Amino acid sequence: MINVSEYNFEKFSDPEYGNLIALEAQKSFPFGIKRVYYIYDVPDGVRRGFHSHKELHQMLICVSGSVKILTKTPDEELVTELSSPNKGLYIGPMIWREMYDFSPGAVLLVIASEHYTVSDYIRDYDEYLKLAENYFEKQSD
Ligand code: TYD
Repeated sequence: MINVSEYNFEKFSDPEYGNLIALEAQKSFPFGIKRVYYIYDVPDGVRRGFHSHKELHQMLICVSGSVKILTKTPDEELVTELSSPNKGLYIGPMIWREMYDFSPGAVLLVIASEHYTVSDYIRDYDEYLKLAENYFEKQSD
């Protein structure tokens, strides 16, 4: 899907000591890292997100448990289940996203390309559709 892709991160596995994954900005990672946040203790049945970003790049990693991510453009829709710490979902600009079906104890780690910027959010779906149609039309020119 345009501006959305799955990543499989290299895992350093040791049968005796367990697993380790290292992510370094711009090395096997699609953007420079400026912010990290995580979502956890999400009550059963809750759906979060319901927004797009104008310019932000993000990588979503479910470091414990599982969660489903709905990503949408005016033309496409995709559901990705994140259920392994070595899997990442990259979400680029102008993608509507909703996160749901958090398993009990799930921890969703989000790595972002910019500091928190309220003006980068589009929270109204109708406004999103208008801006996204324009954005993707220009991209395909
Ligand atoms: P919100 O964007 O509503 O979360 P979600 O899209 O997952 O439902 O963010 C929840 C609150 O956290 C809101 O008050 C803004 C605040 N927040 C920050 O202060 N910094 C951040 O980096 C993020 C992502 C959120």
